Formats: sequence, structure tokens, C-alpha cells
Amino acid sequence: MKFFADTAEIADIKELAEAGLLDGVTTNPSLIHKSGRNFMEVTKEICALTDGPVSAEVVALDHGTMMKEAEVLRKIADNVCIKVPLTIDGLKTCKALTDDGTMVNVTLCFSANQALLAAKAGATFVSPFVGRHDDNGFDGMDLIRDIRLIYDNYAFETQILVASVRHATHVLESARIGADVATMPPAVIKSLVKHVLTDKGIDGFLADWAKTGQTIG
Ligand code: G3P
Repeated sequence: MKFFADTAEIADIKELAEAGLLDGVTTNPSLIHKSGRNFMEVTKEICALTDGPVSAEVVALDHGTMMKEAEVLRKIADNVCIKVPLTIDGLKTCKALTDDGTMVNVTLCFSANQALLAAKAGATFVSPFVGRHDDNGFDGMDLIRDIRLIYDNYAFETQILVASVRHATHVLESARIGADVATMPPAVIKSLVKHVLTDKGIDGFLADWAKTGQTIG
């Protein structure tokens, strides 16, 4: 499963790349706002930090203006992936852009039928929001299971990009189900390393090493 960082924070993206934990990045208007950065400038910087796809979201709601915004965004770098909402205009934009060889991430997916539409429109990625699904009394992971089943039934190539990931269990379940990508806040990616027995093991080894009185080098 690929790991995307769901952030526009440059320092976090750099750190994950250095640890080999970065296969791409997703942003959205809320994350750009949180970063306090200029959208075009920060997107360009992010694109230089990874060879993987970097999702940049259009904000128009009509197809014509979405296409104009996409034209501006895709000039930023070759690895920009245009993010469009799961609406009829978003799907039209998705079809036009992917027919033209541009990567598209169809976002704000909350049902398996919506994911079916995204695949039919040729989406490179579909983004089901598991955390927000959970928040509203549904089981976000059931949504991922349904989409995986449907995509496999018809051999759709659209990649399932699990979004709105809130905790390690979302990540584990996504990998069990066979989701293609999970996009996660950097804190969630870093939380995956934690295990009490790892910490306890390090403490034990270092205590015994100190008793040897040796140094390395
Ligand atoms: O990138 C979209 C998605 O990951 C947002 O997550 O936590 O705002 O529901 P969240």
C-alpha cells in the first residue's frame, strides 16, 4: 500500500521523504489554509520533494472553470494530480483530463456507487473519506471493502486512495482490504512506528550495553 502525506507542511513532507515513507502528497483547500502558504508556491515546493503524485484541488464548481483551473495547476509540475469533487461537473472534468493524460483524484467520495462513477469517468484515484464516514454513524472501512469488491469485479484500474484517515486502525484495515493508497496526516504515519515492546527492548539493550563499558568506533 502506498503512503501519501495529507498535508501542505513542507517540514513534515521532507521528514517523511527522508525516512522512505512518502509515495505522494494530497492537499485540499483546508490544508492550504492551515499552512498559511500561497497555493501555487507551496504546491511547487511539494512537487519537488517527491516523484509521486501531488494532489492539488480545483475550487470551481462548473466544468468550464474547473478545466481552466486545472490548466493552471497542471503547469506547476509533471507530478501534479488534479483533484476534483465527486459531482457531475467534477466527473466531466475527470474524463476530459484523464483522456488527455493528466492524473485525476476524485475526492469527497462517500458511497460505493459514487466510486463506481469515478472509475467509469477514468479517475486515476478515488478518495473515500473514512473518518468523516465514521463521524456520521457509518463504518468507513465497510465503504473501502465495497469499493475494493466492485473495482475487482470489473477490473477497474482506478486506485482506491483512503482519505480522512484518523488513526492506525484505519491504516491496518486499509492494508488488509487491499486499498492501493492511504493518505494520512504525518502524525498518523509516525504513530505507526510506536510499540511499547520496541521501547522496552531498546531500554533493556542500552542498559546491558552500558554495563559492558564499551563504545562503538
Ligand atoms: O484530504 C482529504 C481528507 O483526508 C480530509 O480529512 O480529517 O479533514 O476528514 P479530514
